[in-house]
Amino acid sequence: MRPFRLGVLVSGAGTNLQAILDSVHGRDGIEVVCVAANRAEAKGLARAQAAGVETGVYPADEYETRAARDQALAEFLAGHEVDLIVLAGFMELLSAGFIRRFEGLMINVHPSLLPAFPGVRAIEQALEYGVRVTGVTVHFVDEGIDTGPILLQEAFDLPYAPDITRVEQRIHAVEHRLLPEAIRMIARGALREERAESGNRRRIVIEEGRHGEH
Ligand code: GAR
Repeated sequence: MRPFRLGVLVSGAGTNLQAILDSVHGRDGIEVVCVAANRAEAKGLARAQAAGVETGVYPADEYETRAARDQALAEFLAGHEVDLIVLAGFMELLSAGFIRRFEGLMINVHPSLLPAFPGVRAIEQALEYGVRVTGVTVHFVDEGIDTGPILLQEAFDLPYAPDITRVEQRIHAVEHRLLPEAIRMIARGALREERAESGNRRRIVIEEGRHGEH
């Protein structure tokens, strides 16, 4: 059977990519077929190469426009016939054309309980605000900033005087479980999309239990 083919986009350390390589790649019919970065220094590239996965580097400043960069990136992903694109710490906005082309086929992991604290510095934003609970969201990507339909979330309590380093470690530990779980759910077709009763918001319905039980 044809595997379920993943393309992963990274910008930095790539610990979420590593979690995908360690716990999803080569299992349950799922393969990471390509990894792309917007920076040649992204450590995720070396992680991909160590796993024998093809890589590409697409820095925005090497193209005339952002749209031209995104077009090249889109061709790289389409050339690898990806079924799902995972933004795993990809820290640049993608152009509307790119997002429309892969609508419903692209997910992102974000270090807050959306819709609270979208955008950059989400962990800092949450601590500065003084919330008592935070967590991680995996969501589909739409044209807004971290506004797409939510797939999975996991919350945890914060101590009264949170230490940012510890919170970051906790966030990462949750991300490294939640993102692989979301990918497995999509690969086995456990999701359906519907419109909320009021307004026009799309939301995700999970057709089975989180771990495949009914
Ligand atoms: C992760 O914490 C991810 O949630 C965050 O970047 C980090 C990447 O870590 N993404 C965002 O803030 C997107 N808005 P990693 O490179 O070690 O996987």
